[in-house]
Amino acid sequence: MLNYEKENQVFLNLIEEKITEIIPQKQPEALYSAFNYVMTAGGKRIRPVLTMLACALLTGKPQHAVSAGLAIEIIHNFTLVHDDIMDNSSIRRGRETVHIKWDESTAILTGDMMVGWAYRMLPTSAPRYAELVEELNTALVDVCEGQQFDMEFNSRSDVTIDEYIEMIKLKTSALLRCSVRLGALIGNCSKEQYDALDNFALNLGIAFQIQDDMLDMTADQLKFGKKIGQDIIEGKKSFIILKALELATEEKDIALLQKYMHTKNGLPETYIPQFKEIFDNLNIFEIGQKIIDEYINKANSYIQNIQNSVQNDYYEMLKHFVNSLNKRVY
Ligand code: IPE
Ligand code: IPE
Ligand code: MG
Ligand code: MG
Ligand code: MG
Repeated sequence: MLNYEKENQVFLNLIEEKITEIIPQKQPEALYSAFNYVMTAGGKRIRPVLTMLACALLTGKPQHAVSAGLAIEIIHNFTLVHDDIMDNSSIRRGRETVHIKWDESTAILTGDMMVGWAYRMLPTSAPRYAELVEELNTALVDVCEGQQFDMEFNSRSDVTIDEYIEMIKLKTSALLRCSVRLGALIGNCSKEQYDALDNFALNLGIAFQIQDDMLDMTADQLKFGKKIGQDIIEGKKSFIILKALELATEEKDIALLQKYMHTKNGLPETYIPQFKEIFDNLNIFEIGQKIIDEYINKANSYIQNIQNSVQNDYYEMLKHFVNSLNKRVY
C-alpha cells in the first residue's frame, strides 16, 4: 500500500525540481527575478498535485503530468500576482507581494508573461494536446470572469450567498477543475471519468474558497502568510460577511454589517475585532465548516464513481489529500 504522505512529498519534489529547471536567469532582470520570486515562495501546490493525482488515478503514472501540473500552477501564480494588485495586498506567503517589492508595472508584466510560460509547459507530444490547450483557455476566461464579479461585488450592497457561490465557482473552482481535467486528459480519460473529476473539483473549489474566506479572519498570520482581516479592509463580500448578514438579529450587528455592505472600499483595520465578535457570537465559523464539509462530501461522491474503473492506490491518496485540505490552517 502507498504511504500517502511520502508519495505526496515525491509529487512535491517533482514539481519543485521542474520549477527550478524552467525559470531562466535572463534580462530584463526584474521580470525574471519576479517570476522566480513568486514561483519559489512556497505555495501549497495543490493544483499540480491534483493534476498528478488525476493522471495517476487513471494510469498509475503521476510523473506523466508534472509539466501540465506546472502549467496550471503558473496560471495560478499569475492570478495571485494580479489579484494582489486588485486587492491591495502587501503580503503573500509571508513575503512582500510583487507589486510592493517591485512596482505595479513589473507585477502586471510578470503576470502577463507567466501566461505565456504556462502554455509552454503543456506537453506538445501528448495525444490530446489540443484539448489541454482548450482547458487552459477555459480556465483563464473563467478566472477573469470570477475576478471581475468579485471586484464588482465591492460596490454592491445586495450580494446574495447564491451569487457569491457562482462567483467563486469561477474565480476559484475554475483552476481546480482545469487541474484535474489536464491530468485526466493526459491519462486518456473517458467522458465519464472526465465529468466525475470535473464535478469533484468544482465542489472542492467551493469548499476551498469558503475556507480561505474564514482563514482570512481566523488563521495565524505567520502560518497563513497573508494579512489577517484583509478582506474586511478591502470591503470584500466574503462568505463570512454574507452569512453573518443572513443570521444577525441584534440591531447593532445588523447596523454594522449593513454599513459594511454599503462601503465600496471596506472599513479600517480597527473594526476587525468588532467583526470577529459578531462572527463568533453567530457561530459563523462552525456553520461555515459544516457547509465546507457538505461541499467536500459532494466532491467525494463524484470520485466514488470512478473508483471502480481504476486499479491503484491513488484513489485512496486523493481522498486522503482532500481530507488534509479540509483540515488546513493556511
Ligand atoms: C490562494 O490559493 C487563492 C485562493 C484561491 C484562495 P492557495 O491557498 O492555493 O495559495 P498558495 O498557492 O498555497 O499560496
Ligand atoms: C482568490 O481570491 C482568487 C484568485 C486569486 C483568482 P482571494 O483574493 O480571496 O485570494 P487571496 O486570499 O488573496 O489568496
Ligand atoms: Mg481577490
Ligand atoms: Mg486577494
Ligand atoms: Mg482570500
